[in-house]
Amino acid sequence: MIFTVAIDGPAAAGKGTISRAVARHFGFAHLDTGLLYRAVGAKGGDPVRAAQTLSEADLTRGDLRTLEAGQAASQVAVIPEVRAALVDFQRRFARREGGAVLDGRDIGTVICPEAEVKLFVTASAEVRAHRRWLEVGGDEAEVLAQVIERDKRDAERLVAPMKPAADAVVLDTSEMTIESAVAAAKAVVDTRL
Ligand code: C5P
Repeated sequence: MIFTVAIDGPAAAGKGTISRAVARHFGFAHLDTGLLYRAVGAKGGDPVRAAQTLSEADLTRGDLRTLEAGQAASQVAVIPEVRAALVDFQRRFARREGGAVLDGRDIGTVICPEAEVKLFVTASAEVRAHRRWLEVGGDEAEVLAQVIERDKRDAERLVAPMKPAADAVVLDTSEMTIESAVAAAKAVVDTRL
């Protein structure tokens, strides 16, 4: 069976948790596409070359989940040649046998416009910053400032800006527990299977 679930949305909206839970529940493979951009940002040197030569080993570095790595990722993610170098890998993953969940910013709009399910998972900037702050600690106001800065860069870039696909189901998790958000996402997938 070929079946793609595209899950897009801003940082710390719950995409990762929802994607992993949906993939596990339906037995689909999961690709966190943010990791590709984080790995390119962390590799250093020419980002276009880093994207063109990205390997499995680059994706398993330990320091890719930090706030700084997220900022670096969003800076290389504005470069059209970086995005272009990562398209084929993502599309092949999406159409692999057995079903796939991909989460990112442009999966439903650019990478997989034909995805069987498109979700746009969002929440207010304050709620997302608070969730991220619970994970990383430090100064909550600084975490909020970084979340807002990254959202702005991701939403305003010219190539593949973050936005819901016209046919995406929007899930605002501001007032939801993670359990109810996961249940809502599974319910959407169930209706399309
Ligand atoms: O999802 P995550 O926070 O790991 O993504 C890091 C950055 O990578 C995002 O802020 C965004 O700039 C970029 N990204 C992207 N397109 C994707 C996934 C991530 O531009 N599909």
